[in-house]
Amino acid sequence: MLNALLSLFFLFSIARAFPLSFLWGFGQEPAVHSYAVAAPKDELGWVDPRVLGGQFIDFTTPRFGEPLNIIISNLSDPYILTEEGFRRYYKSIGFSEECLGLHYGHVHKADLGDGDGRKSEHILARQHYFPRWGTCWESLIGGNHFRAWKQNGTLADTGAWFLAASKEYDSIKNHMIVPNGYNIGRDMLVANAYAGSSWKGMSWVAEIEWREGLLEPGYKGINHAIAQDGRIAVLTVYRV
Ligand SMILES: *[C@@H]1O[C@H](CO)[C@@H](O)[C@H](O)[C@H]1NC(C)=O
Ligand SMILES: *[C@@H]1O[C@H](CO)[C@@H](O)[C@H](O)[C@H]1NC(C)=O
Repeated sequence: MLNALLSLFFLFSIARAFPLSFLWGFGQEPAVHSYAVAAPKDELGWVDPRVLGGQFIDFTTPRFGEPLNIIISNLSDPYILTEEGFRRYYKSIGFSEECLGLHYGHVHKADLGDGDGRKSEHILARQHYFPRWGTCWESLIGGNHFRAWKQNGTLADTGAWFLAASKEYDSIKNHMIVPNGYNIGRDMLVANAYAGSSWKGMSWVAEIEWREGLLEPGYKGINHAIAQDGRIAVLTVYRV
């Protein structure tokens, strides 16, 4: 039964993935125009990583990375700034840890300008579609996921979370990001946070501030050359 399901998904994803990748390789090259990224400045509830040589793109490879497209500011509920509380919170908005502790893909690093230099992700969480199958299901068919780093180096110990969210194909495609997958992954997480959520008797709702000018839109420096719109969502998550 499971084998039959797996083969079905395999065929389905081949059919789905290849025509698309063919199209997007040759069809829709996004135009990149010169773009002025604003100089780093003091922010409320987090520190711009660029102040101390960091950047809003992680290091998937030494040269390419994924956009850090969500910030959870330290003005949020202090509980969700802890690892335990954050786990509860991301479960409330539909994410969970890796399937059976298996780690797919390699660890990404990010430089948050907090004096830690390039540090490995602290958290990798995936969307779970069905309570019964959880993230194992997501690992199979693809979906939304995020990596998160805490800005807690000694030079900028704000406690804010920086997230790289994206939507990807399934594991058969080796976790390739879908076209527009950085924007889609970010927007889905933000929509859930904005809608409000609960987990085991705790409830939260997020206020969103959209920021442009921190990250250059386009695909320069972005892994898989998948363009992103350069917008970063700064969330302040309140306990309600
Ligand atoms: C929150 O971040 C700001 C930087 O905007 C920092 O000055 C402040 O100390 C941080 N608060 C906490 C509780 O870490
Ligand atoms: C920074 O936060 C991460 C994630 O919670 C934690 O694993 C790490 O130990 C913290 N580092 C320090 C120096 O506290």
